[in-house]
Amino acid sequence: MADTLTITDNRTGRQYEVPITDGTIRAIDLRQIKVEANEFGLLSYDPAFLNTANCRSSITFIDGDKGILRYRGYPIEQLAEQGTFVETAWLLLNGELPTKDELEAWTAELGRHVEYHENVKKLVEAFRHDAHPMGVFLSVVGALSTFFPDAKQVLDAGSRRTQIARLIAQVPAVAACAYRHSVGRPYVAPDPDLSYAGNFLSMLHRGIEREYRPDPVLERALDVLFILHADHEQNCSTSAMRGIGSSQADPFAALAGAAAALYGPLHGGANEAVLRMLAEIGSVDQIPGFIRSVKAGERRLMGFGHRVYKSYDPRAAVIKETAYRVFEVTGRNPLLDVAIELERIALQDEYFVGRRLYPNVDFYSGLIYEAMGFDPGMFPVLFAIGRTAGWVAQWQEMLEDKEQRIARPRQVYTGAGQRDYVAVDAR
Ligand code: SDX
Repeated sequence: MADTLTITDNRTGRQYEVPITDGTIRAIDLRQIKVEANEFGLLSYDPAFLNTANCRSSITFIDGDKGILRYRGYPIEQLAEQGTFVETAWLLLNGELPTKDELEAWTAELGRHVEYHENVKKLVEAFRHDAHPMGVFLSVVGALSTFFPDAKQVLDAGSRRTQIARLIAQVPAVAACAYRHSVGRPYVAPDPDLSYAGNFLSMLHRGIEREYRPDPVLERALDVLFILHADHEQNCSTSAMRGIGSSQADPFAALAGAAAALYGPLHGGANEAVLRMLAEIGSVDQIPGFIRSVKAGERRLMGFGHRVYKSYDPRAAVIKETAYRVFEVTGRNPLLDVAIELERIALQDEYFVGRRLYPNVDFYSGLIYEAMGFDPGMFPVLFAIGRTAGWVAQWQEMLEDKEQRIARPRQVYTGAGQRDYVAVDAR
């Protein structure tokens, strides 16, 4: 049997042979299917891209039915247990785990880029103290584009490498400046002698102590969370990164757009929405009423459901374990009991089971972030720090893919036919 699709157009009786490659047919192969020779030909119609692959990628593999997530073939559970975020960023970008020398050089390279332009502080100060940190984050990251005009050389591999290192190294500082501004505390200079997560915690929380040493449990928990959030193949924000990058905009501008997509409550903003939802429920005895409102379609159970995972998000399982380790240091978050009972009920309720709705990466992460002292507004920013590694890896892969060009979908036009202009007095 050949790897082809035979299509019969019943409008004409004509048959077409279309090759099947990697479980796909090329949408462009449909264009040959016409009734009249002068027609445009068939398009595929797929709102929200439910069944459309827009690229070939070797970075991340997800099996939504089996709850599998691998970065470059390595199971997320192993990377979270044994790896670090810095080496995971290298893995996503280069396809292999770094050797000891490569890891040392990569860590030093990021260290050379942690110092950010002094004007970042002035940009952050332009915002109200109560500005949403994600709005500050995406604005300042976009503004970084103006500090590095060389970033426009997106077709130069060396320039791409420099911008990638700058972005991974500096997004923690942008996030920390947004946080320090919101609480009226002076900014803390980055400390390249600390780990990636340790330096972030220092820029967030360091006071007047001469030497800041982050709590090792919290430092490790944050590093694990960055690993878990690093990439997730063609999610909404990564598609935005690829789409904006396809016009050859610089990576700072593209990443600002990706962060804007992540901001939405259906995507990375869900972790913030989960915390607000748990706080609104307040206690276990309020759960049945809340579940009724969800089943009545009045609201969504935030942190549940996924376009790809139709089983338990493997990241949620790791985050749940990490939460217990963090709570040993910070004290148990009382909302954890509400979350656990909500999960228990939802996993046995036909409404959720029937729709294959399981906890996703955002369901438990907010509990950890809140226990670590972050306000809910910072949660999507924390997501963005980890996901920066994936965004730049996917951006790089898109630019190196000879099949890719500027992203420009077609449409099905449903508007008015041609008609003549009518003067305003005659309307
Ligand atoms: C992330 O894509 C990624 O990989 C994203 C991400 C990543 O790492 O990048 O994994 C990170 O964004 C995780 C998702 C975080 N979002 C939330 O937790 C928000 C709540 N979840 C949803 O809104 C929803 O589940 C989505 C957005 C995640 C997925 O939406 P889909 O695939 O478009 O599913 P759908 O909206 O078509 O829902 C299918 C059915 C509907 O019911 P019916 O109309 O068929 O009766 O399931 C229902 C929905 O109403 N449904 C929910 C629900 N999610 C879907 N009902 C209640 N609560 C929910 N959370």
